[in-house]
Amino acid sequence: MKVAIGCDHGGINLKPVLVDYLQKNAIEFKDFGCFTAESVDYNDYALQVSNAVANGEYDFGILICGTGIGMSIVANKVKGIRCGHCHDVFSAKMTRLHNDANVLALGERVVGAGLMLMIVDAFLNTEFSGDQRHVRRVEKIKEIEKKNFK
Ligand code: RB5
Repeated sequence: MKVAIGCDHGGINLKPVLVDYLQKNAIEFKDFGCFTAESVDYNDYALQVSNAVANGEYDFGILICGTGIGMSIVANKVKGIRCGHCHDVFSAKMTRLHNDANVLALGERVVGAGLMLMIVDAFLNTEFSGDQRHVRRVEKIKEIEKKNFK
């Protein structure tokens, strides 16, 4: 499994916790930044991570900003990305099971390190259910992308 990660200044304190988790679990990853607490635009990091997932270079993306909201809005503008904005373990599991989400957005100002790791763990370790009704719904999302994205 290959994971692309990114944050803005609002996620700069939780990202090292995520990096530590990925290293301890021997999960291959690339950190697309940012790397300092200087104010930056979440858009730039969400886009890099999302493009890297959409083009198949990485299996999953994990994005952290202050709320997770900006990151998730940008990620979901990228064709092929289904980003789940999750602040509880149940949603993280369900967004994989039902939505086949490939990017997870988190807010450092919303969750603490312990909960974040449980959310990440649930997200990375849950397979898409593959049930016909969920496949149909994901296919319908792809149809929308075909019509609405250039
Ligand atoms: C930055 O202050 C903050 O707006 C950003 O991290 C994020 O929460 C946006 O959605």
